Amino acid sequence: MSIIVWTPALSVGIAQFDAEHQSLLGMFNDLFTSIGDGGSPEQLGELIEGIVNYTNRHFAHEEFHLTKYGYPQLEQHKAHHRRLSDEAAAIQSRYAAAPDSVPIMDVFMFFRTGLIRHFYNVDPLYTKFLQAHGVS
Ligand SMILES: [Fe+2]
Ligand SMILES: [Fe+2]
Repeated sequence: MSIIVWTPALSVGIAQFDAEHQSLLGMFNDLFTSIGDGGSPEQLGELIEGIVNYTNRHFAHEEFHLTKYGYPQLEQHKAHHRRLSDEAAAIQSRYAAAPDSVPIMDVFMFFRTGLIRHFYNVDPLYTKFLQAHGVS
């Protein structure tokens, strides 16, 4: 387990979304660093809240563009966002209510695997479609 490095090979081909994915990787890394530094539940909770809020804004940005141009897989994409954001909210509130009951590395791994998997397996499916509509 380590800091997550973004490389151009991970690009989804849309500058705004790449920038948002990079910001989120930075936030995951901040969380990882804070865990390693023995951050307090309050500090870690704030970082988690930041990730959850930013993720939801990012999902909304993607859905705005996908809706605007009539992306054929819109409903599947939105459903995947919804699942992830529900899961993220559940983890966030479980941690906020009882930090000792939630292993912080499980929280980190949810973001690391769940969200990043979406960014790099599901998001690239819209690349050609959005680029064909002049989004780059
Ligand atoms: Fe994304
Ligand atoms: Fe997405």
